[in-house]
Amino acid sequence: SSCTFFLSYLLGMTAAELRCGKSVLIGKRLWGCFEDLIVWLHIYQWMTEIQNSNSELVTQHYLGNTVENRPMYYLQISQPSDKTKKIIWMDCGIHAREWIAPAFCQWFVKEILQNYKSDPNISRFLQNLDLYILPVLNVDGYIYSWETDRLWRKNRSPHMNGTCYGTDLNRNFNSSWGSVGVSYNCSSITFCGTGPESEPETKAVAQLIERKKSDILCYLTIHSYGQYILIPYGSTTEPPSNSEELMYVGEKAAAALTEKYGTSYEVGSTSLLLYSNSGSSRDWAHMIGIPFTYTFELRDTGTHGFVLPADQIQPTCEETMLAVTTIIDYVDHKYFPGGAVMLSSSSLGLSLCLSTLLEN
Ligand SMILES: *[C@@H]1O[C@H](CO)[C@@H](O)[C@H](O)[C@H]1NC(C)=O
Ligand SMILES: *[C@@H]1O[C@H](CO)[C@@H](O)[C@H](O)[C@H]1NC(C)=O
Ligand SMILES: *[C@@H]1O[C@H](CO)[C@@H](O)[C@H](O)[C@H]1NC(C)=O
Ligand SMILES: *[C@@H]1O[C@H](CO)[C@@H](O)[C@H](O)[C@H]1NC(C)=O
Ligand SMILES: [Zn+2]
Repeated sequence: SSCTFFLSYLLGMTAAELRCGKSVLIGKRLWGCFEDLIVWLHIYQWMTEIQNSNSELVTQHYLGNTVENRPMYYLQISQPSDKTKKIIWMDCGIHAREWIAPAFCQWFVKEILQNYKSDPNISRFLQNLDLYILPVLNVDGYIYSWETDRLWRKNRSPHMNGTCYGTDLNRNFNSSWGSVGVSYNCSSITFCGTGPESEPETKAVAQLIERKKSDILCYLTIHSYGQYILIPYGSTTEPPSNSEELMYVGEKAAAALTEKYGTSYEVGSTSLLLYSNSGSSRDWAHMIGIPFTYTFELRDTGTHGFVLPADQIQPTCEETMLAVTTIIDYVDHKYFPGGAVMLSSSSLGLSLCLSTLLEN
């Protein structure tokens, strides 16, 4: 089935191995596929395997702990190099029920690792850019959506003496926090928390991004559903300073995506295209100075919504890959117009001389 295909692709096992493997049970729950599968353990195990089998390129890093005390990790894909590189950030699964998002993050990593030697675009941008990928931001909520409530969205922080649960992590960032498109009622799906970065998951991400912000060129955050590529802002209809360029690149990415299977996407600002909201990670990332910030809302437009059927996992990942790499290519060419610097013995002296000049 397409589900077996997807898992075997990710874990590098054959369908038969998957069916027999103790760690993976093919059943009926997710996308009509697995039953009783401890998903997080899988993503977790997958991250370790990816790191072990690509140790020259991939490292796994601890970000912080969730409300329920689970560790959060991201993967860093870095080609060894002496030169200072810039960073592309991508997170998936900030909203628990949007299962296609973590699947895409995993797909993305796997594709990069499989193709970076043969695909000239990937090998070019990997010489200049490090990729930081957080496959599941909201780990507790994600597990809860598997085990208890398929349509759970928020994290699992207890409020009102444990009579209601969960903060919407995409309303909890420090960008016009609490001002518009949120609820202060903890029973609401858009509860913004008790203050900006009140949640450990938000804080963990924000601290890392804040620390690295001068090197981060691009902040991508993957959601579903609706088929949109969204630019800032949600909290105001006032366009960001680089709005034209963001739109241009967003349209280019959407066009690349559409070329694959004809899926159509709309590109625009959250506040103009959808609704106003405050405290989103994307708005915050742009406000602290990261130039290329986008929210993706993957398939579909509502037929299945959050419960996207298994046979759409692969095509969704394939087409989204084209959009995301279009953005990365653009950023790569913009900030590294000279392309990959190849140090030959004759250019070495010049490069050393140049870098000495630049450092002073
Ligand atoms: C590389 O990028 C260019 C321009 O973005 C595109 O036309 C081309 O198809 C890409 N090549 C591959 C192998 O993806
Ligand atoms: C929470 O429970 C404690 C002890 O049962 C009680 O004293 C307190 O008033 C409760 N707080 C709220 C906000 O309900
Ligand atoms: C949020 O941002 C404001 C100013 O932009 C700053 O004063 C405040 O300390 C920030 N809060 C947190 C929790 O980082
Ligand atoms: C919070 O929302 C719940 C569910 O919609 C509602 O029953 C409750 O009365 C609300 N609480 C407050 C304080 O508004
Ligand atoms: Zn979402």
